[in-house]
Amino acid sequence: MRHVNDLLDFSTTDLTEIIDCAIAIKASPNDYREALSSKSLAMLFQKTSTRTRVSFEVAMTELGGHAIYMDWQTSNFILTDLAYEIEYLSRNVQIIMARLLSNEDFQIMAKASQVPMINGCCDRYHPCQALTDVLTMIEHSAKPLNDIHLLYSGVQNNVSNSLVLMADRLGFSLTLATPETQTSAASYDIQLQAIIQENPKIRRVDDPRIAIDAADFIYTDTWIDMQFFNDPKKSAEKAALLTKMQPFQINEPLIEDRNILIMHDMPIHNDYEITPGLVRDPRSIIFNQAANRLHAQKGLLYWLLSHQPST
Ligand code: CP
Repeated sequence: MRHVNDLLDFSTTDLTEIIDCAIAIKASPNDYREALSSKSLAMLFQKTSTRTRVSFEVAMTELGGHAIYMDWQTSNFILTDLAYEIEYLSRNVQIIMARLLSNEDFQIMAKASQVPMINGCCDRYHPCQALTDVLTMIEHSAKPLNDIHLLYSGVQNNVSNSLVLMADRLGFSLTLATPETQTSAASYDIQLQAIIQENPKIRRVDDPRIAIDAADFIYTDTWIDMQFFNDPKKSAEKAALLTKMQPFQINEPLIEDRNILIMHDMPIHNDYEITPGLVRDPRSIIFNQAANRLHAQKGLLYWLLSHQPST
């Protein structure tokens, strides 16, 4: 069974097909109105979400299927063995998307599930976001994908990890302007770190200014995991992180009048990872990128349900 987790098991062809599905469905939505007729998606959330929830639910509706929202806290996932609950769930729906705190839990659930599972963002990966980001770059560039240069400025996290995988499989250049990832970090992934070392088109630098003149797109993400953002117990850690991360902020002195497009996967924290002036700058494609979550989700759902090995 194909699950969508770290995407390490997805080939260049697989990822290209998913993005091509997204492009085709976006161009001709009426041709796909019944594509997932009588299919149900369970959406399980351990963490907050706006885009992931809305885009998956609307995607299922517009493809003729149905989506069920399940909040971890108000389901019996909090009470019992994960494997039991997911096996039950997978006997009722054709696909499951889960946003979880820990990738280990995703792996337990994927083993127990009788239907494909999609990682809707965890501590290590955000594959749905990275698919969206590639779709967005393709739409906003006249260059072939393998000539595009993406500069990611911020923390190495679930989003940057999934961008590394995409760059490796799809051939675009990726510069990560980030502090070095500690091996103890929740997002540390040994296989993706090896890709950064081995792929000449992917590199890490200490300063976004090193790469900005060569980049077509600049991208950032929150510096602080969403579940910690408003936690008073994390305030000292947060203050130290903000000082450390300031050189990686997307701001006016960094961008100046450069011909570069600005990306952010949202939610945005004004004056932390990006200044509000650049969120609304004519070079910002942030809202187009966020709207593309819907189209990328449709491509992924359609492809995944059409590409399961027969049993
Ligand atoms: N980018 C993203 O995953 O948004 P949500 O957290 O709102 O789902």
